[in-house]
Amino acid sequence: MTARRPEPDEVRRVLFVCLGNICRSPTGEGVLRRLVERRGLAEAVEIDSAGTGAWHVGEPADRRMRSAAAERGYELASRARQVSAGDFDHFDLIVAMDRANLGDLRDLAPGGARAELRLFSDFLPPGSPEDVPDPYYGGPQGFDRVIDLIEQGAEAILDHLLDGTGTGANARRAERG
Ligand code: 4NP
Repeated sequence: MTARRPEPDEVRRVLFVCLGNICRSPTGEGVLRRLVERRGLAEAVEIDSAGTGAWHVGEPADRRMRSAAAERGYELASRARQVSAGDFDHFDLIVAMDRANLGDLRDLAPGGARAELRLFSDFLPPGSPEDVPDPYYGGPQGFDRVIDLIEQGAEAILDHLLDGTGTGANARRAERG
């Protein structure tokens, strides 16, 4: 049986957001994209990434991030862009890589926007760090750490996007209030 092409209103949409849109959020996009392709869901899930800052708009992902990702078979093909007001209506779920990104998104969100704003670590197992650490000014191990964390959370994000489940999410949100 071949899967039916989803209607536009059935497509689920997720946006990953970090500061520069050249390290962490392009990795979120690349890791989730491979997961949905493996599950045969490429047409059912739209995935994008953006930054709260505009310094790198138009640039490919950071060379160090691309090469760490390529070591694990991920191609990061994004070009950096800044978050826009329309993103808050277009996407079902916006995932911030750290708490500063989440705070900035809350400040930017238009009133009544439909996207659900979440922290990436909501989808990580209990005891995980609250932030996906910014690797930009650090050494090479920081880029591997980004991929480790994103690989750990990607499945729960996809589950949440598709049917509202996802490990750890509710407990963590309740803790933060
Ligand atoms: P990202 O990393 O937010 O994971 O893309 C950064 C990239 C660039 C800068 C900061 C963080 N920057 O200050 O230029």
